[in-house]
Amino acid sequence: MHSTTLILPALALLLDTVSAHGFVTGVSINSQWTAGSDPVWYYSPAGSAPVTAGWDSLNQDLGFVEPASFGTSNISCHKSATAGKAYANANAGDTVNFSWSTWPDSHKGPIINYIAPCDGDCSTLTSSSLRWSKISQAGFVTPSTNTWVTDVLIQSNFTSSATIPKNLAPGNYVVRHEIIALHGGQNDNGAQAYPQCLNLKIGGSGTVKPTSGVAATSLYTRTDPGILFNLYVGATSYPYPGPEIWTAAN
Ligand SMILES: *[C@@H]1O[C@H](CO)[C@@H](O)[C@H](O)[C@H]1NC(C)=O
Ligand SMILES: *[C@@H]1O[C@H](CO)[C@@H](O)[C@H](O)[C@H]1NC(C)=O
Ligand SMILES: *[C@@H]1O[C@H](CO)[C@@H](O)[C@H](O)[C@H]1NC(C)=O
Repeated sequence: MHSTTLILPALALLLDTVSAHGFVTGVSINSQWTAGSDPVWYYSPAGSAPVTAGWDSLNQDLGFVEPASFGTSNISCHKSATAGKAYANANAGDTVNFSWSTWPDSHKGPIINYIAPCDGDCSTLTSSSLRWSKISQAGFVTPSTNTWVTDVLIQSNFTSSATIPKNLAPGNYVVRHEIIALHGGQNDNGAQAYPQCLNLKIGGSGTVKPTSGVAATSLYTRTDPGILFNLYVGATSYPYPGPEIWTAAN
């Protein structure tokens, strides 16, 4: 038997047993569904995996990027990511509804969204070449009950949305949708980043292009107050990590 045909069932079994964390299965924009990548496809024989807008990554355990790796390109679009080959269509101002396969209750934390312009074809780019501008973030929903936006994600059938800035110039972009789980964030290197990237083809008549984006390796450090963060001690606010929200195209 060919080795790849052995690997895939083994991975499927692995995913069944550790499927706690989830991944973005796709996005819904104006009720139009566009599939993302399934991590199990990463080792598929060349040409056999479905072509999707989602970036593939070495994420077969549905794992996370640890703070010790925040200075590496793995924090951009998850581990050893390769570009999505298709696009989801959206217009500036549209809402992108991300669907996660699942998410565990314990993994509370913020959900942060970024975009990066491709200046052409996204499918030929590397994750380290992308320059990210933050477009939205949410964290604490109700501090008194320690309710986080990840709890809302779970209550919303594992969906979470982001709005494309309404004056964003048309073109190809990568959207980076990220959960940072803080259940271990009280310890150094205990936070867990789950970035998910997907290509967007933006239409509309916007005029503003991001020019101030940063490389993913400059987004966070392991000692940022929003990374080294204890969610069990009654905090009343959350210091978001990463750059300020880019509002020039709002
Ligand atoms: C990304 O993660 C993979 C899997 O852990 C590892 O093999 C690779 O060396 C990492 N890449 C970088 C740039 O650190
Ligand atoms: C996102 O999708 C879910 C179900 O697929 C739906 O219930 C929800 O209303 C959608 N949210 C937005 C903002 O479109
Ligand atoms: C919840 O999401 C699943 C998978 O994405 C979908 O099949 C189902 O229709 C959704 N349920 C509701 C109530 O939106």
